[in-house]
Amino acid sequence: MSKLSIIMVGLPARGKSTIALRLYEGLSAEGLCVRIFNNGELRRRHLGAESSLPAFYHPDNREGRSKRERLALINVRSAKAFLREDGQVAILDATNAGRSRRAFLKEHLSEYPILFVECVNDDAELITASVQRKIRSQEFGHLREEEAGAAFMERIGYYERMYTSPEGEGAFMRVDTLRNRILAESLPYAVPYHIRIRDILVSDWVRELYLARHGESEYNVEGRIGGDAPLTPLGKRQASSLAAHFHDRRIPYIFTSGFRRSLETADPVSRSHPEAAVIAVPELDEINAGVCDGMRYADIRAAMPEEFLARSRDKYNYVYPGGEGYVTLRSRVERGFRKALFLSGGQPGIVIIGHQAINRTILSLFLFRRKEDVPYIYVPQNQYFHIVATHQKKLFELIRFKEPLI
Ligand code: F6P
Repeated sequence: MSKLSIIMVGLPARGKSTIALRLYEGLSAEGLCVRIFNNGELRRRHLGAESSLPAFYHPDNREGRSKRERLALINVRSAKAFLREDGQVAILDATNAGRSRRAFLKEHLSEYPILFVECVNDDAELITASVQRKIRSQEFGHLREEEAGAAFMERIGYYERMYTSPEGEGAFMRVDTLRNRILAESLPYAVPYHIRIRDILVSDWVRELYLARHGESEYNVEGRIGGDAPLTPLGKRQASSLAAHFHDRRIPYIFTSGFRRSLETADPVSRSHPEAAVIAVPELDEINAGVCDGMRYADIRAAMPEEFLARSRDKYNYVYPGGEGYVTLRSRVERGFRKALFLSGGQPGIVIIGHQAINRTILSLFLFRRKEDVPYIYVPQNQYFHIVATHQKKLFELIRFKEPLI
């Protein structure tokens, strides 16, 4: 029976634990006996508040270092014991930022092959958002928000000083955790389950996504495009029906655009799920109609017939003067969508309250549609798309929630 240790490597807030979890789930679903050994969890359990302060990570703090080394030793011993028994894949989830720590792990795990999975993501905005998410956790509960943010950034700074890539220290894969891409890879010896691991790392990992459109807005009733109109009474009832539909589900994250109609639709859902973090992602704002913003399609036809004709001839490639088109929307929406997935840490049950053109674009990331058909995907306001997309499963269904009483 082939056995393998996967050693995660990466600075804090780069998505290591999400990748570790993904490997755990993907390989377990293949029938393998897998376990994650997470140093952070052990640290929080044994050391508590002391270890959330940056001083604990200062390179000159010998006591802090020796405490962290003890935790690493506990985990590596457990991983070794696990592999000696029935375990097949042990995942060691920690920063493992320096060469000496990795040499120490290699020494203990020398019986079986080792694969280093280095997680990188240099998107400053996303790292900041990810830090914001982390400091809401129990670990930082005793600190004020700014203190917690500063403490975490200082901790990252200390790790940055000692960080080196594991490239050249054994079998290694460097993963872009935002885009699910393998940026570098080297296999100087055979790595069991390599192809399976590769496939898991490059696949989308959407465990349970509810993609809804905002409820009816005042502009929808008037037939106007763009703008930032509030919901109508019917739109509010649609939002309440959506919330009622989800009442018994675990919803850890709700992502909205920056527009009122999206935020107002999220409102009853977040009120019935106080545990959910509501995050506005500006990349999910509706298509910018430029000079046509606020107009009705009939107004555009009358005032700018050439524009109207050009759009109806090739809706996908048409770009509103001073605004956007489906063709230019894709990259920003994909970024917003990946951002939402990254921030949700791969948890199931995320809700996105988007817009017509935005949801079409998100759907086109999953569904095969010829480009010219994307701007016509049906995106109703009384139904949502339930999506699961992992390397093992692809599920896509349009679900109607109970119609509100008019
Ligand atoms: O009409 C609602 C709306 O969300 C507008 O704000 C937006 O311009 C439009 O839908 C996008 O749909 P289409 O590309 O079909 O015009």
